Amino acid sequence: MSSDPLFQPLSIGTMRLSNRVVMAPMTRFHAPGGVLKEEVVPYYSRRAAGGVGLIITEGTVVDHPVAHYSQTVPHFYGDTALARWREVVDAVHAEGGQIIPQLWHTGLSRLRDKAHNPDEPSISASAITEEAVGAPPSEKHRPAREMEARDIDDVIAAFAKGAADAKALGFDGLAIHGAHGYLLDQFFWHQSNRRQDAYGGTLENRVRFAVELVSVVRAAVGPDFPIFFRFSQWKSHDYKAQIAATPDELARILQPLADAGVDVFDASTRRFWQPAFEDSDLNLAGWAKKLTGKLVMTVGSVSLEDPANFTPGAPVSAVTIANLAPLRQMLEAGEVDLAGVGRAIIANADWAHLVREGRYDALRAYDPTAVAASLEPA
Ligand SMILES: Cc1cc2nc3c(=O)[nH]c(=O)nc-3n(C[C@H](O)[C@H](O)[C@H](O)COP(=O)(O)O)c2cc1C
Repeated sequence: MSSDPLFQPLSIGTMRLSNRVVMAPMTRFHAPGGVLKEEVVPYYSRRAAGGVGLIITEGTVVDHPVAHYSQTVPHFYGDTALARWREVVDAVHAEGGQIIPQLWHTGLSRLRDKAHNPDEPSISASAITEEAVGAPPSEKHRPAREMEARDIDDVIAAFAKGAADAKALGFDGLAIHGAHGYLLDQFFWHQSNRRQDAYGGTLENRVRFAVELVSVVRAAVGPDFPIFFRFSQWKSHDYKAQIAATPDELARILQPLADAGVDVFDASTRRFWQPAFEDSDLNLAGWAKKLTGKLVMTVGSVSLEDPANFTPGAPVSAVTIANLAPLRQMLEAGEVDLAGVGRAIIANADWAHLVREGRYDALRAYDPTAVAASLEPA
């Protein structure tokens, strides 16, 4: 058996991973009307055949009228959309892979003019605009409506339904998107959460919505079905934002989520090697593990030379192996358990096989402009 820490097995509840390489969730806008195009099925199964231990799907929206980012992101509801997801699951399993869906509600960040129900206002923790939380000025921005108790119940019910469907479709677990300034994160962050009630104010209050949601999702899937939870400091419009200024604040966010039923914290950072707080080398995932004792996934520019941003038109990111050494050290030291790889796996469906075999020269650069045109290169 390989001694490479990237290629050690791991069990999480009912999930049996053959290695620690995870394809990070990546929206591809290939689902007109909410149904994944047929070519998305081999896009995922090729990555399973390429050796990744686990695939986290692109964000897929729960069954709520104003959850959608745009018209071209996949739904996680409706017979046609779910039937296509089942094809994806079966194709990934046929290649020996494991796969979980990333359940998503965009809240304020919804592209209202391009999304479902454009006449309906978006919802968020508070009645704010994107401009108010750091987005560049645009006449498109319109305030969201502050969520009432009924909205909170509806969104939780939508996630619970998605969770039950994930299990019924044969997915190996599920992931909840609580990062990047989307709905759950809009509650976490003091800039976007200006509520005066039990869901606003203190950190304990700001995490309450997500904690209730995780508890209901856990009840919907039973005790052993793996639940991943993605969180981040950064927001799409503000890379310097923080939901936790100190480890103590991070613990006050993550521990209640762990108690509610999260199995794995996916700490989304843009550069995995950067320390999260002063006076320690631990990165954000490392802190999540130290504070909660839960399994964690790190992510952010794994095997990418240029930590460019994720926006279309960003420069080509050369592939490097320089940062695989510190990644392996973190895994070996037990600071982190899983390694998320995003753009490098878009460019290299066979990333895991190539890295496992040391065939680094065969790794291809990530070129966002080329990839934007289609789902490949394979
Ligand atoms: C094209 C693209 C789409 C993305 N879509 C999502 C998404 O749907 N959900 C999410 O949580 N993160 C998303 N991300 C962030 C990635 O999951 C990952 O955290 C990020 O790309 C950093 O990893 P990398 O440097 O290995 O690419 C996306 C990133 C890219 C490049």
